[in-house]
Amino acid sequence: MSNEQHPLEVVLTPEQIQARVGELGRQISHEMGKDIILLGVLKGAFVFLGDLARAMNVPVRMDFVRLASYGADSVSCGTITMTKEPELDLKGQRVLVVEDIVDTGRTVRWLLDRLAGMGAAEVKVCSFIDKPERRELALDIDYVGFRVPQGFLVGYGLDYNECYRHLPGVYEVKLDRQRG
Ligand code: IMP
Ligand code: MG
Repeated sequence: MSNEQHPLEVVLTPEQIQARVGELGRQISHEMGKDIILLGVLKGAFVFLGDLARAMNVPVRMDFVRLASYGADSVSCGTITMTKEPELDLKGQRVLVVEDIVDTGRTVRWLLDRLAGMGAAEVKVCSFIDKPERRELALDIDYVGFRVPQGFLVGYGLDYNECYRHLPGVYEVKLDRQRG
């Protein structure tokens, strides 16, 4: 299924994304300063983290975690596990969790709880997209690229069945029309 084709509706153009990520990089550099660790959540955040890191004007280190959730398709309501742990020692460090999208909030909440046990001095969250439609937990997201009210989104790292991550813009997948 590497060539899935669904009707895609533009939500964010590559130009909008690059402008906003540039702003975020400068803001985070200014507010968090140097010596932070960008901790990306694989796979979805890899594109955003790459652009964000290059938009920052202070030196940063980077690391990744990979989370897996079982029990549902596009809703992460199952059990979450960490299938790849951070490789840098987070003890005493200032960490910025870099996520692709916060939907129900369960994934970020779970990760923050896990990170709390790893001794980081400070943990903040930056999500490329905040999608409040299905939020189940009250969450403070420190930095948000875009707030998109609803819809299933792909592109710029976000996937549907592992497709569309490579697209430079963000699109809403029109799932209901696919067999029309
Ligand atoms: P949460 O735990 O419900 O906040 O879900 C977060 C994860 O679900 C994200 O990191 C994504 O991997 C996935 N997800 C949620 N909404 C979307 C979407 O619209 N497009 C692609 N992935 C999504
Ligand atoms: Mg994710």
